[in-house]
Amino acid sequence: MKLVGRLKSAELAAKAMVRMPYPPFDVLVARTSSGEVLAIEDACNHAGASLAVGEMRGDCVVCPMHGYVFELRSGRLKSPRGLCADQRTFEVREEGDEIVVWDTFSLDVSP
Ligand code: FES
Repeated sequence: MKLVGRLKSAELAAKAMVRMPYPPFDVLVARTSSGEVLAIEDACNHAGASLAVGEMRGDCVVCPMHGYVFELRSGRLKSPRGLCADQRTFEVREEGDEIVVWDTFSLDVSP
């Protein structure tokens, strides 16, 4: 598991989305209206648009380029079905006043 990054909880209001750099790509970190913090790969798997500048609808994000809808919790393409791959997801933990994002697919344990 590898650390993606941290941000202050206060920097992420309800229904807000931010882009967290994780070279060579970015991670979208979002707080839903229910207060849950979720993270998926930012670049849309359809044609690469930044989902962080899209629109959050419930626990989904709508891509700003062609309107594909992805579930933030699972990364699954909800609509239109089957036209591109699901988004990669990341583990999020809230530790004190920080949001900490982890890449659970990486074996790198360095901080
Ligand atoms: S680039 Fe996201 S739906 Fe096309």
